Amino acid sequence: MDRKRFEELLLQSLTHEKGGVNVYRAALRCALEPDLQKEWSAYLTQTRRHVTVLRAVCATFGIDPDAPLPCCKPAEHAGRALVEAMELGLRMGDPVGAQLVACDCVVLAETKDHANWQLLSELIPELAGAERRALAEAVEEVGLEERAHIESARGWARALWLDTLGVSSSPPPPDDGTRRVTPALRPPEPEGAMAMKA
Ligand SMILES: [Fe+2]
Repeated sequence: MDRKRFEELLLQSLTHEKGGVNVYRAALRCALEPDLQKEWSAYLTQTRRHVTVLRAVCATFGIDPDAPLPCCKPAEHAGRALVEAMELGLRMGDPVGAQLVACDCVVLAETKDHANWQLLSELIPELAGAERRALAEAVEEVGLEERAHIESARGWARALWLDTLGVSSSPPPPDDGTRRVTPALRPPEPEGAMAMKA
């Protein structure tokens, strides 16, 4: 595995999670539905935790999580752009439309978030020792929450768009943990199951 590119993926994933905190904060300013506010509040808390988890993973790999690497700038920019899109939505003078903009922005943010964790999960077998354990534990803690985030995001966007269009719909059921029942990410291989690469 290309170590430098792997480290870039870790730092970009962290950058994306940090941007996700700002995305949920902005989305909450647009949310009108009480159940949506409740869910996004919970996911904001989880996303803050994901930042902490990725910082710890970086520390295990000897990576400075605050390194201002050029490879993180596009992810930073993308996060800022989603927040700006929601601020534009709030200025439309259409609160229902602004809520839809926020739903769409959360879908975009969570799609890449989930993809990053999926990629990280697939790289666990390429690692060894403490690094392998650290990434496997992070994926185990965060991976299923990310599945819940993307399912929630798509479900709310679909339901609220249909509702606004005057087509009958029902919002997704509240996140009571059942979205995490089916693992979204491949579980890590047991240590020693594959040839390890330095
Ligand atoms: Fe997420």
